[in-house]
Amino acid sequence: MNEETVVDEISRKESVVSESAVLVGVFLSDRNQELVPLEELGGLAEAAGTQVVGKLTQRREAPNAATYLGKGKVQELAALAHSEMADVIFFDNDLSPGQTRNLEEATGLKVLDRTELILDIFASRAKTHEARLAVELAQLEYQMPRLKRMWTHLSRQTQGGVGLRGPGEKQLEVDRRLAEKRITDLRKQLRAIEHRRQREVAARRAQMTVSLVGYTNAGKSTLLNALTGSDVFTKDQLFATLDTRTRRWQLPGWGPVLLSDTVGFIRDLPHHLIASFRATLEEARQANLLLHVADASHPAVLEQIAAAYQVLEELGIQQKELLLVLNKIDALPDRIRVDGLLNRYPNAIPISARSGQGMANLAVAVSKALSRSFMEIDVEMGVDNGRLLAYLAAHGEVLSKTFHDSRMVVHCRISQHFISRMETDGVAIRLRESDEFKTPDLGR
Ligand code: GTP
Repeated sequence: MNEETVVDEISRKESVVSESAVLVGVFLSDRNQELVPLEELGGLAEAAGTQVVGKLTQRREAPNAATYLGKGKVQELAALAHSEMADVIFFDNDLSPGQTRNLEEATGLKVLDRTELILDIFASRAKTHEARLAVELAQLEYQMPRLKRMWTHLSRQTQGGVGLRGPGEKQLEVDRRLAEKRITDLRKQLRAIEHRRQREVAARRAQMTVSLVGYTNAGKSTLLNALTGSDVFTKDQLFATLDTRTRRWQLPGWGPVLLSDTVGFIRDLPHHLIASFRATLEEARQANLLLHVADASHPAVLEQIAAAYQVLEELGIQQKELLLVLNKIDALPDRIRVDGLLNRYPNAIPISARSGQGMANLAVAVSKALSRSFMEIDVEMGVDNGRLLAYLAAHGEVLSKTFHDSRMVVHCRISQHFISRMETDGVAIRLRESDEFKTPDLGR
């Protein structure tokens, strides 16, 4: 396989794709049902460029081992898909390779689970080299255990279409060994990008950075545009943004800060994707402050907030300073819903990125959060205290190091939260405002 990503080849076929889809969801007793069943899957189907022609749901205690759905429902599904002349079936649940195969055999159609559908959307949206590598890696990793099934029984993939964009077709020509080699190669390339990104982000650290995170379609790009007067792409579509864009924000009462917008989150975001988008999410990982943007007008806003927190946790950045921003309040009929959300999240900031409502409050809250939590300090320690140096680098911004014999002074900017957890034996800390060396009392 040459250097070009497999996705390059596939994306040329996208334009011919306009398929019709049947959506299927099984609601297990331990899981909350969406207010409008299959609404989000419908949004994903649309984002993948397909047209929804039918829906089928079933409530079960546990999935059927062979087909996830019960036997009768599988027949019902086959009949529905046939009568609606569907090309593809999307499952809201994650299927095992065996379940997918059985369902495909029973219906005679291509069956994609939620993860495959999300991967497919990412494949068709990935525009930059980095995003393409990340998607290709996630798809290959997801498909490795499924390679055999693709070899043996699906003759339709030569037609392309949803679920088959990405490396799927190419895998028909390569053996598992080649796929593994490609995975190793992609990981290497992405690691190199991640290291370069870390250096780039670190180089900008003289300035405060604020990163927008949140559920897909919450309005992050719109907010970035509104705050920075820029014109990045926004669309009422899931996963409109797959890259990170950073712009300068003249924060009132503070000065310039860097504001970045990145890929949106979704519930059950495939783990492979989170892992392969690490480089893209580097900006958020290193940000001084996260603005978690939520769509207050969405009926499932609480679930979306929870899902976004879960992704942050998976990224290992849930401990960051974070402000919850309740966007789209202009789309709410009255204050009752905003008040309800504020009862639950008293520190949240209601805004409308579209109308400009609440933007002044947001600026004040961001300024306060930045100045409240970050301190510039000099930490004097033994030159052999690699552990503390690593801690400072991991949790703060090391701005400079100076050496005096066996001691070194590390000038850094770090949140109080982390200063209060520092091991300070044999260490002196000086706040930059004061000249006096001391171990500060930070309320431990
Ligand atoms: P992803 O790229 O999918 O993660 O989306 P995003 O969070 O960047 O959302 P984006 O800014 O693309 O906005 C999604 C949709 O919501 C667009 O149609 C916006 O016009 C709309 N939108 C954003 N902010 C507001 C708002 O304050 N009020 C209303 N009514 N709509 C908004």
